[in-house]
Amino acid sequence: MSSEQNKTFFIETFGCQMNFHDSEKVAGSLVSQGYRQVQTVEEADLIFYNTCSIRDKAEQKVFHRLNDYKKLQKQGKQFAVIGCVAQQEGERIFERAPHVSLVAGSASYSHLPEMLVQIGRGERATGLDDRQTDETFETEFTARVSPHRGYITIIEGCDKFCAYCVVPYTRGRERSRTVESVLDEARQIVQGGLTEIQLLGQNVNSWADPEGKHTFATLLAEVGRVPGIRRVRFTTSHPRHFTRQIVEVLDAGPTLCDHVHLPVQSGSTRVLTAMQREYTRDEYLERIAWIRQAKRELSITTDIIVGFPGETEEDFHQTLSLMDEVQFDGIFSFKYSPRPNTPAITMQDAIPEEEKTRRLNVLNEHQREIQRRNYQRHVGQVVEAMVEGTQHKLGQVPGRTTQNKPLNFTIPEGVAIPAVGSYVRVRVIRAHPNSLVGEMLAAEPTQ
Ligand code: SAH
Ligand code: SF4
Ligand code: F3S
Repeated sequence: MSSEQNKTFFIETFGCQMNFHDSEKVAGSLVSQGYRQVQTVEEADLIFYNTCSIRDKAEQKVFHRLNDYKKLQKQGKQFAVIGCVAQQEGERIFERAPHVSLVAGSASYSHLPEMLVQIGRGERATGLDDRQTDETFETEFTARVSPHRGYITIIEGCDKFCAYCVVPYTRGRERSRTVESVLDEARQIVQGGLTEIQLLGQNVNSWADPEGKHTFATLLAEVGRVPGIRRVRFTTSHPRHFTRQIVEVLDAGPTLCDHVHLPVQSGSTRVLTAMQREYTRDEYLERIAWIRQAKRELSITTDIIVGFPGETEEDFHQTLSLMDEVQFDGIFSFKYSPRPNTPAITMQDAIPEEEKTRRLNVLNEHQREIQRRNYQRHVGQVVEAMVEGTQHKLGQVPGRTTQNKPLNFTIPEGVAIPAVGSYVRVRVIRAHPNSLVGEMLAAEPTQ
């Protein structure tokens, strides 16, 4: 028996879905080493923060947490900072928070067992990447959190170097997994009882077959054909690598969900060029036209940044007009946040904070109206919902449509509450700008 046998750990995660999934893998591999996961800092011997540095606010969170719990070091607790802030700040974290004993970026997680031995001896441990790594973190011990969805990271890292973004510096170069390892994991997920899979990557559609046989689209089709799979999602797609073939595959694959998340960032070609996105407004809209030509209605969502250096009122209006053209079903909107190491940090013509806030509010109000109309169109439809949770106090059960829209529904009298992860038919009776409300049909859950 190793001395780790009785050690407990707590892990808190910030940031994107990839980070949450990394935490599932880190937790799983620690459990396989004999550690026990606990749900509070107080119960834990080892405290992990899996961090995000995409915007300044996200980065500050970990330093607040470390400060809040500093005193617990006296009780013998050890602190580990992993993820994007760890990679970005490296050993500087030890200076800012001397009670931290382990700092590791995402490309070094397969070495965590050795690092834990090191800190067990009272030494400090670091695992930092020099952007040369070709390692992907594959483990059979993923501690999956979602009771209805299994995540698979198919590509790690980012080689795009958008002018505002830290990810290429925090996640290393692009590394794609083999088709076999992705399909093996998909089969394992189904064997574990889940029927929904989400493929992940900072740019999921930049996946490049290490064996040179498949494209992202054909990989997606293969995953959709794994026996037992009911729903396959993928995120995030980069417009630069979004092909017609992806739409063809979605058309031909009934298990592939009716949703594409395609971040545009700005509706102005001038700003897109300054951002180094390497597509124009028209090229983005061309991809939207392909998606709109699909045989079934695909929902489209996006990410938008306001207040990038030099963004004029005219540029901003082009973003609003692009939103009118596309009629997104949802947006994640952000104020530009200057980030270390990125080229945009030295750009002229910074937009004042109040102006960024104003643009963000205008943008969000504009989108709310679009979404109000988009969601209203579903009223009266009968759609399939996957059950995502147990009944709320108000009697509604949370579900989700294939288009990724939350659909909360009531259950007719005398009908049993459907199990989490099952699929039911629901008539939509009301719409909010961000969710639908419906009534489950009295039929049995679909197979
Ligand atoms: N790889 C994806 C995005 C990943 S980051 C893509 O390129 O589309 C998620 C989102 O965070 C980005 O789409 C962008 O909208 C936002 N973001 C990234 N860096 C940012 C910054 N410095 N300030 C504000 N928002 C930022
Ligand atoms: Fe960041 Fe651009 Fe890479 Fe997306 S594509 S993660 S925005 S550098
Ligand atoms: Fe944040 Fe890193 Fe994800 S910066 S958004 S956790 S890739």
